Amino acid sequence: APPPLVDAFQRRITYLRLSVTDRCDLRCSYCMPERMTFLPKKDVLTLEELYDLATGFIARGVTKIRITGGEPLVRRDIIDLFTALGRRLGHDLAELTLTTNATQLATHADALAKAGVKRVNVSLDTLDRAKFADLTRRDMLPQVLEGIAAAKAAGLRVKLNAVALKGVNEEELPDLIAWGHAQGHDVTLIEVMPLGDVEEERLDQYLPLNDVRAQLEQRWTLNESSYVTGGPSRYVDVAETGGRLGFITPHTNNFCAGCNRLRVTATGQLYPCLGGGERVDLRAALRSDAPEANLAAALDEALRIKPEKHHFRMDARGAAPAVPRHMSMTGG
Ligand code: GTP
Ligand code: 5AD
Ligand code: SF4
Repeated sequence: APPPLVDAFQRRITYLRLSVTDRCDLRCSYCMPERMTFLPKKDVLTLEELYDLATGFIARGVTKIRITGGEPLVRRDIIDLFTALGRRLGHDLAELTLTTNATQLATHADALAKAGVKRVNVSLDTLDRAKFADLTRRDMLPQVLEGIAAAKAAGLRVKLNAVALKGVNEEELPDLIAWGHAQGHDVTLIEVMPLGDVEEERLDQYLPLNDVRAQLEQRWTLNESSYVTGGPSRYVDVAETGGRLGFITPHTNNFCAGCNRLRVTATGQLYPCLGGGERVDLRAALRSDAPEANLAAALDEALRIKPEKHHFRMDARGAAPAVPRHMSMTGG
């Protein structure tokens, strides 16, 4: 059998984050500039190529695949990819999931559940319609809430992801968490990262989650949870709400030692780390005359160059984009 994916720091890679488009129907101001330039469609991998790519990773021991974007559900026929990959669940794939902004989740929730998706991560930073419209530059909160309700109705577990933003949703975070928990959803808070140029000054928006956690502890009892998903989120149980709360803390508590993932963009560029560094061109391998051998060699190269950790910093010197790519390119 082909060798498992183990990097230079003895980390075993079992989790692939596969971006299927860099496009999005929202324009979150910490994520993208208002006038975002998207990739020409011809550069983007076909659904067949995405499937073949996933197969190459599965052959090397990847058991969890998360489809990301941009917004994965804006890609036409994307459900076909979920259906095709879903057939491998219970065989050589343990988990198939996605990260979505939920604007189109109401349309697709049933099909996703039917394909074998069990959990979805939904990005939701505020429950205030005006704030949502301001932050995402699109007035689509009603559709998002409909999408979340549809996911629940379809039997999908939902995790809400909120980027904690000073002066934007800071005051609202307890309400957002309480609402999510009341709906039966997990909620995870994320520290903003310096990825790609945006109009905002990210340092002005940055909220360290250890401060947020201390605030929340004034109100609630937080008990360490043993829940692990294989993602970077560290969870606590909130005694009063009965729900689970996660913290993704690239700045205040580095989680890179446990990194088990690789990420691939919609054009087949493998980034061994969200925090930058070199990339490996899987599209060239896929489109070569010996795709399997070249893909295997490209994956070996990625393992060789995967850095020990990201070098983001959120201080006066470091908050300029550490990485020129936006999150929508690499899929978070
Ligand atoms: P589960 O644990 O399966 O629920 O997923 P996850 O937390 O791995 O995935 P999710 O899409 O919810 O990730 C949320 C956010 O965490 C991403 O959008 C990124 O902002 C951040 N994140 C995920 N993986 C990494 C990572 O390897 N490095 C850094 N710096 N951030 C990450
Ligand atoms: N820093 C942190 N999180 C970001 N996201 C997008 N851009 C950034 C950034 N610069 C988040 C979205 C979504 C996930 C895919 O990534 O809010 O939850
Ligand atoms: Fe779209 Fe997600 Fe970026 Fe918002 S954070 S603009 S929803 S890709």
